[in-house]
Amino acid sequence: MKRILLFILPILILVALGFAVSGVMQARFTEDKLMDDLKRKARSVDEGLELSAKYILINNDLKQANRLVDSFQKRERLQGCVIYDKDGQILAITERFSDFKQRERPYLKDILSSKLPRGALEKFKEYSVYSYILPVLNDDESVLGMVEVVYDTSYMFTTLTELWRKISITSIALILLIVLTALLIQRQIFIIPVRRLTQWFTHFQRGETDKLRPFAEKGEFGKLISEVEQVALSIRVARRTISDEANVRLQKNELWTEAKLKDLIHAKLGDNSLFVVSNREPYMHVFDENLGKEICIRPASGVVTAIHPILSACGGTWIAHGSGNSDRKFVNSQDKLGVPPEDNRYILKRVWLNKEEEQGYYYGFSNEGLWPLCHNTHTRPIFKESDWRMYKEVNQKFADSILNELPASSPFVFVQDYHFTLLPKMIKDKRPDAKVALFWHIPWPTPEAFMICPYQNEILEGMLGCDLIGFHVQNHCNNFLDTANRLLESRVDTEKFSVVRSGKETFIRAFPISINPRINDGLFKVDPIRQVEKLKKEFELKDEIIAVGVDRIDYTKGIVERILAIDRFLDKYPEYKKKFVFIQLAAPSRTHIKRYHDLIGEIDELVEKINWKHIDGNWKPIIYLKKHFSQDDIQPYYRLGDICIVSSLHDGMNLVAKEYVAEKDDLSGALILSQFTGAARELTDAILVNPYSIEEFADSIKLAIQMPKEEKKRRMENMRSVIAENNIYRWAANIINEMVALKKI
Ligand code: G6P
Repeated sequence: MKRILLFILPILILVALGFAVSGVMQARFTEDKLMDDLKRKARSVDEGLELSAKYILINNDLKQANRLVDSFQKRERLQGCVIYDKDGQILAITERFSDFKQRERPYLKDILSSKLPRGALEKFKEYSVYSYILPVLNDDESVLGMVEVVYDTSYMFTTLTELWRKISITSIALILLIVLTALLIQRQIFIIPVRRLTQWFTHFQRGETDKLRPFAEKGEFGKLISEVEQVALSIRVARRTISDEANVRLQKNELWTEAKLKDLIHAKLGDNSLFVVSNREPYMHVFDENLGKEICIRPASGVVTAIHPILSACGGTWIAHGSGNSDRKFVNSQDKLGVPPEDNRYILKRVWLNKEEEQGYYYGFSNEGLWPLCHNTHTRPIFKESDWRMYKEVNQKFADSILNELPASSPFVFVQDYHFTLLPKMIKDKRPDAKVALFWHIPWPTPEAFMICPYQNEILEGMLGCDLIGFHVQNHCNNFLDTANRLLESRVDTEKFSVVRSGKETFIRAFPISINPRINDGLFKVDPIRQVEKLKKEFELKDEIIAVGVDRIDYTKGIVERILAIDRFLDKYPEYKKKFVFIQLAAPSRTHIKRYHDLIGEIDELVEKINWKHIDGNWKPIIYLKKHFSQDDIQPYYRLGDICIVSSLHDGMNLVAKEYVAEKDDLSGALILSQFTGAARELTDAILVNPYSIEEFADSIKLAIQMPKEEKKRRMENMRSVIAENNIYRWAANIINEMVALKKI
């Protein structure tokens, strides 16, 4: 609209100016002409009266004089006549002009003496009138008197007003015509071709190549369109070639790498790009009060740690809640941006939630309801009807946002976690051709535990919209199958590990999630050894044995139990006082929820209490660092840690355990790992503990310290090879292969 205004506005201004100037000139001309006519008419009428006036004045015939002036009273317009004697006194006057009798009219004397007529405009009441006075002469040229005619000029004003009205109507009509013509031209030469080109592109983007018709556009547009068609063709050909080459390469390599996963996706999914949806976004823009500017951070989340390397390798679109307070500043008109910000590998589409939605769906139903429901930590789940309503609405909002993005044929939508149990069905209802998989990043409870949830049926039905549901471990798969069997009218096939409901089959599989084990490959901005030295200096550490913990502040992580175990360890083995330091990196999380808020206070108090109890000179046993840490910040702490403590009370997998092991390329270090984590099934060479048993936990710290170097090395080597083999690329490949094997994509 702005563009068309820029085009039309100057034309309209010129046309309006043209009309104004010519209107003024025309009005002037008409006014002059009307005035001339009036003068001529007054003069000729006056001259016509001269003879009658002469006889009236010679005979002093007042009767005749009155008859003459009265004849003007009958005329329609304001007209009048006055007869004067030779002294300039009024003998007879048309009644409507009788006011003239009171007027001082000094020029009458001049007319009598000069014997010359006078015509002039005069004010009469609220009117403007034209008066023409003619001296009446006798045969001997002596003055007998004067005769005056008076004409109203207001009809001239009426005529001019009418003229302006006509000019205005014509100019408005012309302006409208110009606007209409301009709009038509712009539509014809610009909007229609651009719209066709956009539609063509939309079809191309969605892979609807059969709907594409060649363009018959000529001129500059034609050239542009032909260029676009060439680019589109090259992309199509390139995609096909990549897919063929990928198929060949897939036969070769053994270990799963970024490149191999890329090949798999090209070979198996072809043009169907990957759509990932999660609540937590991989990059968040937030305003940093200390720096006084916006910064981009990587949130602490297992989902982000796992999925980011996959999309970085293969591209695609990640749809997530835009929760950073500056997120809106960094998206385009479609709410999208390329990430990582410095090296765009995939698209992040941000979905906006208002406070009410975030409260009900995220804090409420997801994290006060489902999260404690699925974790055995004895935290009571809270289910509120209002939260459930918001949860449903937000699931629908995400579904709409995804449906908008999906290409025409067989897209692959990969849904993450408990925030979106209803989403798979919502997508399938609209796009039955879409392949939908859900990965559940947290444990799945027993049917008895799940039955607490008042919305159990809707949740299960929503999830069974999927073609494939993945859990970390087989035990969670079994729990889910039991749950579906007990709570829904469905058929569970224990051979195939699937649930059939209303003729639709959903496969349930275990895919233990992992990390990219080459995380330290060239990613360090600063030399790691120097970073470790920097940390030692910062915390005034010398030769102490260092244990580290890296967690979100969450009651499932067993942070309180860990601190109690350290306290017990120092009580039981006091020889380690001043020789052992535990560093806890703790990222505040979900702080608007009371349970989380209280936990922060509880840990603060406990750390303070235990440090106070054991403090000795400059030494204290616990360094508690409560803030958000980036991946780059965390790596040196892993390196520094002789021991890593992961003591979750219940955890789907726990990637911190795997990250620590991956970081220890010198094969030093020991991992103390809760037996209630998914990771404990794979990392069997870790020192496994029951975090509820403080005594056993304390002893395991001693065991980790005293373990012979060779033993540590052996265990670390074993764990590293497990992670190298079962890395995040294998995890993604297994899911994609499974999807392809289940149904033809
Ligand atoms: C767990 C969940 C993730 C979540 C993460 C962080 O790992 O499985 O979905 O992103 O916790 O929690 P937050 O609520 O901060 O996203």
